[in-house]
Amino acid sequence: MKNTRMHIIVPLIIITLIILYTLFQIKEMPVKMIDRVAGLFAYYFIFLAILSYEYMAQMKEVFGKSFIKVHHILARAGVLLMLIHPIAFAIEINDPYVFVPVFFPLDQFLIFAGRPAIFLFLIAVSTSTIRKRIPRYWKKVHYLNYVAFLLVFIHAWYIGTDIQSGIMQTTWFLMALVVTGIFVHKHTSLLKLR
Ligand code: HEM
Ligand code: HEM
Repeated sequence: MKNTRMHIIVPLIIITLIILYTLFQIKEMPVKMIDRVAGLFAYYFIFLAILSYEYMAQMKEVFGKSFIKVHHILARAGVLLMLIHPIAFAIEINDPYVFVPVFFPLDQFLIFAGRPAIFLFLIAVSTSTIRKRIPRYWKKVHYLNYVAFLLVFIHAWYIGTDIQSGIMQTTWFLMALVVTGIFVHKHTSLLKLR
């Protein structure tokens, strides 16, 4: 029990410290700092919400709460931060159109991939609240979280101020790799059960 807790909590503390350390290397205007903090921690909380799914059974012993309660808390924090992030950016450049997705050309789509991602997260999360009414479909819609996470990874990689350092690129890449691993692990074990 103590070991499980350490295996989960220690890496999470290290990632938090890496993000905080990187953030304070480049100090900017408050609104710009809010934009960066919110973007970085939105990605982190979404990562943790996905990670909680891999450790579903351990959530109770590590945090004293059921998977769904932990998953909810992380999801709420992630969604709140992902909304603050572009709002701060819109205030910073005084442009409300920052939410409008850009689909062409491909490089612009990838740079601004956070825009479609935010809508995918909101669709995926809002259908979860009516999951009991649409049991057959909600899970497929919930998979959009993986797609949105991938889009945010690319978006941050292209334009993030803090994602330019080696340590942050490694951390970001490892987090994306873990999410891919969770998807493969959970879905191959589900296939075996069928
Ligand atoms: C941005 C927020 C969220 C993210 C990123 C997220 C992500 C995920 C992911 C990736 C899975 C695993 C799906 C799979 O591979 O089968 C999952 C499972 C689940 N999520 Fe979320 N989720 C979020 C919000 C929510 C909310 C708001 C609810 C409920 C109201 C919810 C309920 C669930 C449940 C019940 C499962 C487990 C499904 C099962 O029994 O296998 N999620 N979530
Ligand atoms: C309308 C949607 C979005 C807009 C307009 C937007 C805008 C931006 C901008 C302008 C930057 C560069 C900031 C900088 O580092 O100087 C950025 C970076 C970033 N964004 Fe977004 N974004 C959006 C959606 C998202 C979402 C949904 C997430 C996470 C769930 C996200 C996570 C990030 C991250 C992690 C960075 C890197 C931050 C850094 O390196 O300091 N973005 N975004």
